[in-house]
Amino acid sequence: MMASFGAVLFLGSIIFTCTANGFFVSSRKQMTSPVPNVPCMVEHCSSPMFKCVQDADCRHTMECMQSCGMKNHTCMYGCLNTYEDAVYDSFMNCIVDGHHCMKLEPPDPEFRCKPPAYYMKNFTLDQLIGSWYIVRGINPDYDCFDCQISTYAPDPASSNYTLTEKYDVTMLNGSIRHRMAVQQVQQRDPQNGGLLDYTDTLMGLTMYEKWQVIDYDITGQYAVVYYCGHMSDDWFYEGTLVYSKTPALRNIDIPTITNVLKTKVGLNFSKMCAPETKMCEQ
Ligand SMILES: *[C@@H]1O[C@H](CO)[C@@H](O)[C@H](O)[C@H]1NC(C)=O
Ligand SMILES: *[C@@H]1O[C@H](CO)[C@@H](O)[C@H](O)[C@H]1NC(C)=O
Ligand SMILES: *[C@@H]1O[C@H](CO)[C@@H](O)[C@H](O)[C@H]1NC(C)=O
Ligand SMILES: *[C@@H]1O[C@H](CO)[C@@H](O)[C@H](O)[C@H]1NC(C)=O
Ligand SMILES: *[C@@H]1O[C@H](CO)[C@@H](O)[C@H](O)[C@H]1NC(C)=O
Repeated sequence: MMASFGAVLFLGSIIFTCTANGFFVSSRKQMTSPVPNVPCMVEHCSSPMFKCVQDADCRHTMECMQSCGMKNHTCMYGCLNTYEDAVYDSFMNCIVDGHHCMKLEPPDPEFRCKPPAYYMKNFTLDQLIGSWYIVRGINPDYDCFDCQISTYAPDPASSNYTLTEKYDVTMLNGSIRHRMAVQQVQQRDPQNGGLLDYTDTLMGLTMYEKWQVIDYDITGQYAVVYYCGHMSDDWFYEGTLVYSKTPALRNIDIPTITNVLKTKVGLNFSKMCAPETKMCEQ
């Protein structure tokens, strides 16, 4: 009896740690939808739940986020960056994507992407093959991690490509933790080659993104891409990235990139974040 009581209390704390992908958290007040369905979790996700209780890092993720008071995003990122692990991911995957026991609450349900009208028509996926540094980005929650190295390769099992994304996060004790995510990339229509579909599973949650290739250097030195992603019907996010084959952009390319960003995406190059790319593990 104590064990199951413990589990319910434990679930009680998870209910308000709706961490989604860990980038945003809804406070209890903002929750308009029904709270997570505890019987649903017990019925469908008891195995991943008990694995979480038994796993020190999964338990620490939950406890740490609760101790942040559920409102301080900086603090909560710190928790996820420090403790989030595969056990936590599979628990979140079960209760959110797998059985809809918990609905994701977007930070801003009104937010919708504003994709640029422009994309390249004549782009082909093989132009992305190889590794790229993310040298500029605009969305602080998604684009600006240090040491983001994106590697594209054809998927041997389909006509898709895979994107393996490496990035660094800072743990609560100041140490750097290396992270990795794998995405599936599909070109929808060769006539509109610059429109790409991405599917990503991060922290147990699935995200769908529509990318637009805005510019691709003919020598393969850099690329500029815009993306609009969503995690649920009303949770959208967008960003713009500059990819470079080398850790720093060549000076001669900067005026072109600045102009493309300004005229095609409406962004000011100087206002974009410039993640660390030089002191990175390969
Ligand atoms: C948020 O958490 C961080 C890290 O734990 C802490 O330094 C900061 O003071 C907190 N901010 C607020 C407003 O509580
Ligand atoms: C692809 O289209 C762009 C304009 O969208 C053009 O500048 C470029 O020359 C084209 N590339 C090829 C190989 O046709
Ligand atoms: C921070 O925590 C990690 C994981 O617990 C550990 O491996 C690392 O050595 C710690 N770093 C410092 C500076 O204490
Ligand atoms: C190919 O990629 C698309 C878009 O990410 C995805 O929906 C689809 O499931 C992928 N196909 C395979 C076989 O993985
Ligand atoms: C771009 O941003 C920089 C730095 O904030 C600013 O100095 C510059 O005037 C901006 N350029 C344009 C065209 O708005």
